[in-house]
This record gives sequence, structure tokens and C-alpha cells, in this order.
Amino acid sequence: MSQIIKKIAVLTSGGDSPGMNAAIRSVVRTCAYHNIEAVGVYRGYEGLIEGDFVELNARSVRGVINKGGTFLKSARSKRFRTPEGRKMAYDQLIANHIDSIVLIGGDGTFTGGLIFNSEYQFPVMGIPGTIDNDINGTDRTLGYDTALNTAVEAIDKIRDTAHSHDRLFFVEVMGRDVGHIALNAGVGAGAEEILIPEEDMGIDRLVESLIRSKKSGKSSSIVVVAEGDKIGKSVFELKDYVDENLEEYDVRVSVLGHMQRGGSPTCYDRVLASRMGVKAVESLLEGKSNYMVGTIHDIMTLCPLDKAIKGKSKINKELVRVSDIMTT
Ligand code: F6P
Repeated sequence: MSQIIKKIAVLTSGGDSPGMNAAIRSVVRTCAYHNIEAVGVYRGYEGLIEGDFVELNARSVRGVINKGGTFLKSARSKRFRTPEGRKMAYDQLIANHIDSIVLIGGDGTFTGGLIFNSEYQFPVMGIPGTIDNDINGTDRTLGYDTALNTAVEAIDKIRDTAHSHDRLFFVEVMGRDVGHIALNAGVGAGAEEILIPEEDMGIDRLVESLIRSKKSGKSSSIVVVAEGDKIGKSVFELKDYVDENLEEYDVRVSVLGHMQRGGSPTCYDRVLASRMGVKAVESLLEGKSNYMVGTIHDIMTLCPLDKAIKGKSKINKELVRVSDIMTT
């Protein structure tokens, strides 16, 4: 392995996700293993611009593998979108003798990294950390598995009360542009309908489905709605619509919101984070840059950063069909 790189920085940026701490830990310990210095950057690109750095060693990351959130904190930096902000960030990196940087985040984070690399040829390596699972070039993003399990657990609880009162619940889950959480949590929790951004079901079909559901003898129902669903109505507007058009239903709404982003990562996410951190650091040491580490069919891979952000991950059509059959 080439030893040109002596000091690697790591930051977390954009929406946090469970497993980010485990990924920082892995980056730091892999650096220690290869006798490389590691530096943590607070508050993502904001901290990079301000030089808000902390030296990290193998012991500084003890006790974090099971912690949700990110101890380095995260931010969506407006300043890094400007050439002036990126120049300040570059100057901080050079002043602190940092040779390359590991970026843990989603598409916004990687877009910033790509622009930065094209301007300063500074080596960057991405680790996909977002609960949305909306990154191309990896089967799973960090935090997705945990968020999914959090959503299923919450929907199970809502199901209990829905059943007791013979009610219909619209449950909104996160997913601005993609419906991975909605589709998988919906199937996993036995939802009657699942509304995702990739498939515009239309309000009429939803109403027909609810009528059919009632006629088939179902007393309570759960409809899982992704944040970015294309039906064009919020969960509250959906409730109003059903209240007005289907008197037989007693409707309630539950927005799961940011609880899906918190909590202790699942074992899957901890292991994934550990593998991704090793792959990210060792790829930089091999002289690679402008990639995102990922896992395809459980094999660690590298995907060019521009491909990772351009092609959003596709929804699983087979699972959409399974969901249709299960709602019969
Ligand atoms: O990208 C992750 C995500 O949790 C999305 O699912 C959600 O739309 C968004 O972040 C919420 O962002 P914020 O925390 O800035 O409100």
C-alpha cells in the first residue's frame, strides 16, 4: 500500500443516520491500523470551512459503535456551496496537513465532494450514510436498516390501537424522493396500502381500495405513505378526503418523522459501517479518489461518486407486486 497519505479527515454531513458513529470509528481505527493520523471534522462542511477539527485515535472512538446520531455532528452547509466557502475549506485542510477526506453522507454531501475535488484535486472518498437508501452503487446505505426496523416497530404499535378502535391510520414515513422505507416497512408491517413516490396510485384508486378492504371484512387498516408520495396530498389532506368521502371510516394520522433517524443502529448497520470504513481508508491509501464505497450482493465495491449521485436507486418492482398481492 502506498504511504503517500499520512493524515485522513472524516466528516458527517446532511441528514444524520444510525451507523454514522460506527463508520467514524471504523475510519479512525483503520487509520490507526495503518499508522495514519485521523482527524474528525465537526458539523460537516461547516466545520471544514472553520477548521473545527479534532485529532482522533483508536481510543477516542470507544463506546460509539452502538450510539445513534453522529458525535461529530452534522449540518447542511450553505457556505460550502459557494467557491469562497470551498476555498476556505481547502486552506484549512492544507494548513492542517490533511491529505484526503472521507465523506459520510448522502447525495448532497457527495455533490459537494465532487465539486471540491474538481476544483482542488483533493482526494475524497464517500461512505453512503442516509436512512433513505436513495444512493446508486450500493444495495444498502448506512442507517436504512435501522430506520426500517424503527418504522416497522412503530407501525406495529399503531396497528394495535387501530385494531382496538376499528380505525384507519395514515402513517407517514420518511423518504423525500424514494419509497424504500415505505414499501419495505409497509410490507413488513402488513399495511393495507402503500403510497410511494415511484408509483402514482391516484386518489380514486386509493378510495376504491379502501372500499374493497371494508367489504372484504377488514375492520382496521394501515396506509403507509412516503413523505414524497406523488398523490399530491399530505397525510392530513388524505384524512380529510376520506372523512368526506368514506363515512364508514374513522381516520387518524401519525407522522413518524425524525424518530426514524435516531436510535441505536442495528447489528446489520454496525457491521456495514465497519466494513465501509475499512474499504474507504484502504482505497484512499491505494491512491483511489472520487469513489463511494458500497456493497453489492454483500461484496464491498467502489462506485464513482458521480454515478452514485446521478442514478437514484430503483424501487424493487417485485416487492411492489408482493405488496399488491398481500393487500388482497
Ligand atoms: O435525507 C434523509 C431525510 O431524513 C429525508 O428522508 C427527509 O426528507 C429529510 O432528511 C429531512 O431533513 P431535515 O432533517 O433537514 O428536516
